[in-house]
Amino acid sequence: MRIHEKTAVDAWHFARPKLAEAYLNAFALGLTAARGLFARRRMGKTEFLCKDLLPAAVEKEYLVAYTNLWDTSTPDIAIVSALAQALEPRGFRAVMTALGKPVKKLKASAKLPGLAEGSIEADLAQLDADSAATMREVLRQLDRQKKPLILVIDEAQVLAKEVHSVFAHALRAALDIRKDRIKVVFAGSSETTLRDMFARSSEPFYNWAPLEPFPLLGDEFVAFTVELTNSLARNTLTLTDGKRAFEALHRTPEFFKRFIERFVLYQLEGVDAALEHTKATVFSDQHFLRQWTGSGAADRAVLILVASGDSDLHSVAGLRYLSTLAGSPTTPSTVSHALRRLQDGNVVTRLERGRYRIEDEAYAEWIRQTTAGHLREALAEKPRAKSKR
Ligand SMILES: Nc1ncnc2c1ncn2[C@@H]1O[C@H](COP(=O)(O)OP(=O)(O)OP(=O)(O)O)[C@@H](O)[C@H]1O
Ligand SMILES: [Mg+2]
Repeated sequence: MRIHEKTAVDAWHFARPKLAEAYLNAFALGLTAARGLFARRRMGKTEFLCKDLLPAAVEKEYLVAYTNLWDTSTPDIAIVSALAQALEPRGFRAVMTALGKPVKKLKASAKLPGLAEGSIEADLAQLDADSAATMREVLRQLDRQKKPLILVIDEAQVLAKEVHSVFAHALRAALDIRKDRIKVVFAGSSETTLRDMFARSSEPFYNWAPLEPFPLLGDEFVAFTVELTNSLARNTLTLTDGKRAFEALHRTPEFFKRFIERFVLYQLEGVDAALEHTKATVFSDQHFLRQWTGSGAADRAVLILVASGDSDLHSVAGLRYLSTLAGSPTTPSTVSHALRRLQDGNVVTRLERGRYRIEDEAYAEWIRQTTAGHLREALAEKPRAKSKR
């Protein structure tokens, strides 16, 4: 499970105590009981939540519960077990007894997310009682705890799916009446879906939490990593080269770490070779090829245009351009349908009216690299690209 990797002691972790404190202070002041934060993939949300925010919360005498809904088809069970893990074993036993399923043996509950045994989740998954009832019981036990709780729901956009709507409503209702004792952080990589979740009056999450961009890692992170690298590598990496690599990798911490790893392991080859190698691996995944070949012609045409940064998709020039790319006439409704599909699949995000972006920068870069030829051809056929509708 991803979370286990995240919680191991990690010398390479660039700690962000001030950011963690800012979130905790806002909760402590009682100004807000919930926050929503988003950033695109691989930007360090999960790492911040698990390695900075939650440990800081534990220091401040909060109970903590963390769940990542990325890979689960049962977010209700995932959330309820995260809450249950925050209880001492005795509290959890009481929940199970109340639900008519006493547990005899239970491993000690974890103080930090990720250290739990997964046994609670297994116990809960076997319950045939509905998850909302289980949740209410767990919350009743939490009400009896002295400490307040911080619940972090990572990849929270999963909850926006229609199938989870009943549980989402129940969750909101249960947490709304506990605002002073339970603080919630929603995080996610799909800005579009998160926005819809919190902005649509028909959604259970409507107006629950203000949604803000997650502050991204920047020069300080690069400087920290370069310094650590130099303490291990003989061939020193200059800060300038580090910053250049970070830029070339679209300021993505995960890719930067891969670059560093390559640099350290193949020092004799030098910085440029390490950077080229990293770019070649991170921007040319098999996975992208599969994703690409699985999309229809119209979707691909739209993706090429969005990746190129020219997302004026509905203009006359844009449509002609798309027709060339797709190899068939493209109408405004074809474009709208493609955009809807791509947004539903969390591939594309709408930034504002008429402006789009590919969620995964690595995929965008892969598309730019693999379709450069198509793009040039289409451009050659695109008369006076600037003419607008
Ligand atoms: N504070 C940090 N210090 C050092 N490395 C970091 C930090 N934050 C992120 N990274 C690196 O970036 C990788 C990706 O971070 P993380 O998984 O937290 O991103 P994410 O925003 O949650 O991505 P996703 O949306 O894909 O879940 C980490 O595995 C780590 O290598
Ligand atoms: Mg994450």
